[in-house]
Amino acid sequence: GEIEKSGYDHFMLKEIMEQPTSLSDSMRGRLLPEDPRVVLGGLHTVWDQLVDADRIIIAACGTSWHSALVGEYLIESFARIPVEVEYASEFRYRNPILRDGDVVVVISQSGETADTLAAVREARKKGVLCLGICNVVGSTIARETDAGVYLHAGPEIGVASTKAFTAQVTVLAMIALKLAENRTLSTGEMAHNLHALASIPDKVDEVLDMNDEIREMASVYRYASNFLYLGRGYNFPVALEGALKLKEISYIHAEGYPAAEMKHGPIALIDRFMPVVFIAMKDSTYDKVVSNIEEVVARDGSVIAITDEGNGELDKLCEYVLRIPKTEEFLSPLLTVVPLQLLSYHIAVMRGCHVDQPRNLAKSVTVE
Ligand code: G6P
Repeated sequence: GEIEKSGYDHFMLKEIMEQPTSLSDSMRGRLLPEDPRVVLGGLHTVWDQLVDADRIIIAACGTSWHSALVGEYLIESFARIPVEVEYASEFRYRNPILRDGDVVVVISQSGETADTLAAVREARKKGVLCLGICNVVGSTIARETDAGVYLHAGPEIGVASTKAFTAQVTVLAMIALKLAENRTLSTGEMAHNLHALASIPDKVDEVLDMNDEIREMASVYRYASNFLYLGRGYNFPVALEGALKLKEISYIHAEGYPAAEMKHGPIALIDRFMPVVFIAMKDSTYDKVVSNIEEVVARDGSVIAITDEGNGELDKLCEYVLRIPKTEEFLSPLLTVVPLQLLSYHIAVMRGCHVDQPRNLAKSVTVE
């Protein structure tokens, strides 16, 4: 009903707009930038085992799998522990090799996804510590894992996951930063990174202020039948997530790729009918991404770029440039994904799609 949607037309839009609050809720009581440290009560009993892990395997499906990919970059860079990301469905049917020193982490908004639950059971059967990152309190996965962290993002009703993704990335960032304690970060660096994370909700709020601009962009691109999303490093999983959001709710075919892989295939698809969304933040990969943009423009592709506030360098090359607040590179997925959520939302609405309940999809898939 209208009341639950708090005046928004769809749950999806409400949930996108709620992200400054849901992210603050995910961090509340856990992020202590003044100390500086991270407190994750749910992992207290297993923390020593996690810190000493030789390898972490993250298993998930759908959007949760995309946050797992961000988690791989976060944990490898801050904790220097090797991470492997698995589709839960593939992991469980492969008779995976699990050894002493391995830790399995599953990510599931609903805590009920059958494939992800099967991965939990497989890990536990093999005697490996299994941790859960879930949103729904008391869900099956939350109950069957040895320990875990709740998102505290509040109920997510829209089938296309939005606020759960950003909360998952936030929880993974907190885990990675906690693992970095006495390891890769000085006290000063830790304080700096925790302050940066704490400032994310306000920055998400600024990105949400671009809603009208994004709606206008959507009206230009609503008739496209294909989209390509490209990003690198921390923003490669965001490219995948942007493409998934568009597919799920607008039924437009979209693919996400690591920007540098474009030359190995997707570039063949580019012509003037192919919109390409680039995540081009001024980070360690920026110059390379700009050359990818030039290659697309040279083939008449229409480019939408997401870049940092104050960056005017892309205006000449791109059809649209969305400028979002600066943050640390490792936190940028929390900001760059938001315009992509809004873009797919508006395109889907303009195409008359059932945004909250897209055809053929379910909020949680309890069959294998
Ligand atoms: C379904 C939903 C997706 C979700 C995926 C995993 O496919 O439509 O939005 O990302 O399941 O769900 P989970 O609850 O395990 O995160």
